[in-house]
Amino acid sequence: MASIDRRNFFRASAAGAAFLASAKYGFAKAEAAKDSSKIDVNGKLRLAAIGNGGKGQDDLVNISGSPRVEVVALCDVDESKDHLGWAAEKFPKAKTFNDYRRLLDNSKLFDAVSVSTPDHMHAPIALAAIALGKHVFCQKPLTHSVQEARLMREAAKRHGIVTQMGNQCQSHHAYRMAVKLVHDGAIGKVKEVHSWQAGNMDWLHLEKRPAKADPVPKPLHWDLWLGVAPERHYNKGLYHPWDWRGWQDFSSGQLGDFGCHILDPVFMALELTAPTTIEADAPSLGKEAWAKSSKVEYTFPGTRRTTGNEITVTWYDGKDHKPNHEGWGLPEMMEVEEEDPKSKKKTKKNVKYKLPGAGSAFVGEKGTMILEHWAEPKLYPEEKFKDFKMPQMEDINHYTSWAHACLGDGTTTSNFDYAGPLTETVLLGAVAIRFPKEQLLWDSEALQFTHHADATARLTKKYRKGWPLPKA
Ligand SMILES: NC(=O)c1ccc[n+]([C@@H]2O[C@H](COP(=O)([O-])OP(=O)(O)OC[C@H]3O[C@@H](n4cnc5c(N)ncnc54)[C@H](O)[C@@H]3O)[C@@H](O)[C@H]2O)c1
Repeated sequence: MASIDRRNFFRASAAGAAFLASAKYGFAKAEAAKDSSKIDVNGKLRLAAIGNGGKGQDDLVNISGSPRVEVVALCDVDESKDHLGWAAEKFPKAKTFNDYRRLLDNSKLFDAVSVSTPDHMHAPIALAAIALGKHVFCQKPLTHSVQEARLMREAAKRHGIVTQMGNQCQSHHAYRMAVKLVHDGAIGKVKEVHSWQAGNMDWLHLEKRPAKADPVPKPLHWDLWLGVAPERHYNKGLYHPWDWRGWQDFSSGQLGDFGCHILDPVFMALELTAPTTIEADAPSLGKEAWAKSSKVEYTFPGTRRTTGNEITVTWYDGKDHKPNHEGWGLPEMMEVEEEDPKSKKKTKKNVKYKLPGAGSAFVGEKGTMILEHWAEPKLYPEEKFKDFKMPQMEDINHYTSWAHACLGDGTTTSNFDYAGPLTETVLLGAVAIRFPKEQLLWDSEALQFTHHADATARLTKKYRKGWPLPKA
């Protein structure tokens, strides 16, 4: 499989898309056309699901919830019940694989893939599938590096495939309602936005990996789990499943984990493009683990939804790390329900107003919208909006809308043309966290930071020998 190394990538991006639109393009198009003729045989989308445990289980159950989807292949590096096991039992006719490369060798089997692996494997798997002309559903954040996000967007466009990132809250009525409120001008033009995830990062265990290895459980193919990441020995409870989030080699920290959810309605409501500056405040990072707390301030060019020529969006993460909400017109007190731990009796009481644990504040000319993550937006000051009629929005099925769009029915909203730039923005913040208190100037077209070679070098990463990033 052809690959793109770090040097080539920057040359390619600067020279434009032409470099990447190689002879492979013709091949992939032909493959796609050939395969899509098979979709009509039984009218169903043939799905290959990669990464079947954790969120992969939810993705697979949701996508296969459509009677127009046939699960034909499953792939997971862990054969135990919680991973490949349950899925193989539920879909006994599906062919099973541990190595996605062997699955892709059987490309005539399927029309579309879902990628629900840890973040470091999203782009390697998705780009290889795109090169074959397959439709792709890929978990958030779309990729592990800014370079990969740019490549995914460009490749998906060139191949004309149907894509969707797994930021499912976008399709939930609450987030759709928030976007509509901003577009309807309910709070006027927006002056500034603050977004936060103030929960405890329960996946951050260690600053450094242990010197001693643990035995690899029999059903787990550890080398395949590592994939493109640098080699390291297995340790129980530190990486697989879930806890890979704490480590730089596999994830982009709390911002990477939640940014594509929480910043999504900000991006969509304000119709943001690429940021121009990014500045982080965070403790200096060690070599291995992500920071326990960070603040990242982005400046974007103003849009028709914002006041002024620029708008700042500030991200906060870490336990109880929230913005100062003074001057936003929020109430002094709020009513909360408390449960007595012994009797389980619930009582209501008034307490000092507190921002929700995760969400965004859109501070507008005419009021403030608080959008709690996964909850309907609220408008303030309360008195001003007490008779305001909130728009009613429907939920969209984020998963089956992708499957049906692959069959030519409808469209997707978090396609890579949208999700690519959103992910780039999120991951630029993760780069800035590596250079605290330095204002980074972002040149999106050239895909580089102006006058900052060290930060530019962090837009990409090294791939393990034998695991090149596929060219699509
Ligand atoms: N959209 C959401 O709300 C949401 C929620 C949780 C996780 N996620 C995303 O889903 C992805 C998976 O997260 P998770 O928490 O489920 O992780 P996890 O570690 O719990 O599960 C990952 C699954 O993928 C399998 N896997 C790992 N590497 C693989 C490979 N190379 N090929 C095939 N299978 C492989 C694992 O065995 C496991 O079954 C991440 O990108 C994460 O950000 C999204």
